[in-house]
Amino acid sequence: MSDTSQRRGLYVKTWGCQMNVYDSVRMVDMLRPLGWRPVDSADAADMIVLNTCHIREKATEKLYSELGRLRADKEASGRKLLVAVTGCVAQAEGDEILRRAPVVDLVVGPQSYHRLPELIARTTREAGVKLVDTDFPADSKFDLLPQETEGQGTLAMLAVQEGCDKFCSFCVVPYTRGAESSRPAADVIAEAKRLLATGAREIVLLGQNVNAYHGTGPDGRTWNLARLLREVADLGVERLRYMTSHPRDMDDELIQAHRDIAALMPFLHLPVQSGSDQILNVMNRQHSAADYLRIIDKLRAARADLALSSDFIVGHPGETSADFDATMRLVEQVGFAAAYSFKYSTRPGTPAAALGMHIEESVKDERLARLQDAIARGASAFNQTTVGKVVPVLFDGAGRRPGQMHGRTPWLQAVHVTGPARLIGQIADVRIDAAHANSVSGTVVTADAVEAA
Ligand code: SAH
Ligand code: SF4
Ligand code: F3S
Repeated sequence: MSDTSQRRGLYVKTWGCQMNVYDSVRMVDMLRPLGWRPVDSADAADMIVLNTCHIREKATEKLYSELGRLRADKEASGRKLLVAVTGCVAQAEGDEILRRAPVVDLVVGPQSYHRLPELIARTTREAGVKLVDTDFPADSKFDLLPQETEGQGTLAMLAVQEGCDKFCSFCVVPYTRGAESSRPAADVIAEAKRLLATGAREIVLLGQNVNAYHGTGPDGRTWNLARLLREVADLGVERLRYMTSHPRDMDDELIQAHRDIAALMPFLHLPVQSGSDQILNVMNRQHSAADYLRIIDKLRAARADLALSSDFIVGHPGETSADFDATMRLVEQVGFAAAYSFKYSTRPGTPAAALGMHIEESVKDERLARLQDAIARGASAFNQTTVGKVVPVLFDGAGRRPGQMHGRTPWLQAVHVTGPARLIGQIADVRIDAAHANSVSGTVVTADAVEAA
């Protein structure tokens, strides 16, 4: 039994991608046996971990405004507080963070957070000492992290691959996360089994470039993502997804997996960034717009009800209005169920930062607005196609309004229904009654759920 008087409050704030969310889960899990108990607010914390994202300038600025607030808070209350900055800004800026923000005690990169316990112990012991650890250790952190002690509940994430060797012109990820590496398949399967034993009904296999997965299998051979998905599906998980993929690594075996694996949900996030070959080339994406469309055709031939989402960047250096029109055409051609779009943001140290021909902010604004309008039209058209259908929904929490429950369809649409809290963690059939901009609403038609309501 741990002595509760020695428990200290830990508050973790996470920005960025699913991988960062996963890392935060692992950090909390690792620190829990050492007496750190997660708390819901910074005010109740003895240690604050800011798990940061460096992808766009705005993401990085969020760290510094948060640190400004924390400093004022700490000075006003006079309390003891340990502040750790982790994630991609930690990796990119290292001890510059300590210089800019003296409130910070620890700076720890995404490949070294397994060392947090010893770093915390040292800075506590040697009061006032500040530590920076942004090494890319020779051994994968996954081998060095203790096994998880707690599950993640109904929806679980599982990192299978990390880092990226693609070096898209605009992107910091290859620098902040390091070279591409895959976890051994046996480790992934063991972790999936533990997640299932603690109640997971949906597992998302994660990686910055997840479909480049090439881990060593228990048979000593290299397994690709298609093979890994089959094995995880065979463990009996009801819903399986993977993200994020690169079009270059969308091979035929993976495409066929969408036909063959029933648990693999009919929704794929496949970032394309632009519809212009000229810009795709400058971006170093290693595929053309036609390549992308061909992949989509094959995917739809394998699984007719597959819905797609994507990421777009507008205003990459050199993007002409004709290039942008090509992006708009691609959006119309594919008919995405959802998509994220961003204004190009210059990141220090990336190849695009050194290019000339930067696009004016007002032009980027205008293009982004047009693109987002087209994406929104596509999303509501897609949501409309599901109205009247009865679909299985995995409920994951309460909705905003009283008596409202929130869940997801196989196509990752957010669903709201009026129903009992015991729906949470269940998969129930829902008739979709109405489509909204970013969600659908419906009525539970599973017999026992209706009786209980
Ligand atoms: N393959 C990665 C992509 C991470 S970044 C993954 O696993 O998700 C997510 C998205 O951010 C990219 O697809 C891209 O559309 C966008 N992005 C990356 N760098 C950017 C930049 N410098 N400016 C604007 N958007 C950017
Ligand atoms: Fe960044 Fe490109 Fe790698 Fe994705 S594939 S993480 S956009 S460099
Ligand atoms: Fe951001 Fe790092 Fe993820 S830069 S998007 S947290 S890999």
